[in-house]
Amino acid sequence: MIIKSATFVVSNTKVSALPAPDRPEYAFIGRSNVGKSSLINMLVSQPGLAKTSQRPGKTQLINHFLINESWYIVDLPGYGYARVSKTSREKWEKFIRNYLTKRENLQCVFVLIDSRLEPQQIDLEFCCWLGECGIPFALVYTKADKQSGPKTDQNVAKFNKALKQWFEELPSFFITSSEKKQGKEMVLGFIDEVNQD
Ligand code: GTP
Ligand code: MG
Repeated sequence: MIIKSATFVVSNTKVSALPAPDRPEYAFIGRSNVGKSSLINMLVSQPGLAKTSQRPGKTQLINHFLINESWYIVDLPGYGYARVSKTSREKWEKFIRNYLTKRENLQCVFVLIDSRLEPQQIDLEFCCWLGECGIPFALVYTKADKQSGPKTDQNVAKFNKALKQWFEELPSFFITSSEKKQGKEMVLGFIDEVNQD
């Protein structure tokens, strides 16, 4: 797929104030600092479109970006940031779960997983919750440039093995590096296919 245009539309704290659900939508979620905003910028080839930071907790709102004037990419705040208070974590959970379960034009959620790490409980639990809710999702392993290919493959295999305990059919997955622009065509090709359905 060729990205001809990618523009910021709106940031929200309220699900009720989101853009009209009249176009297909793809949300990017995962632990704080996993690389969601960087991945979005890499996919649309616009380095500054979604705000990124070395410090976790940069993205705080639901951010809509309109792509090719026909579908939305959504950048979400990360989960699992240890320095966030219990109250704000609960608030985040409610807000994001509300968005993910209610958003009728949401086609697929991309769950980002740090490819350097062994399976993390918080990511597995989140995938299970999506499964229980019947929300379609795919996995995107990030920061693959940070270690060797075999090491990434090992972590992917472990995550898939852990998921097999709960899922009969494993989700699609993509290995990416925003730094090296790896995985772009695969992720965009997947979105294209879903958009054609
Ligand atoms: P929050 O919005 O805080 O939840 O973070 P995020 O998931 O949006 O992460 P963000 O894109 O802001 O990236 C976090 C840090 O990781 C930044 O310093 C990025 O430069 C770095 N980073 C992201 N993707 C990659 C990658 O593929 N390779 C490398 N080497 N660094 C990356
Ligand atoms: Mg972010």
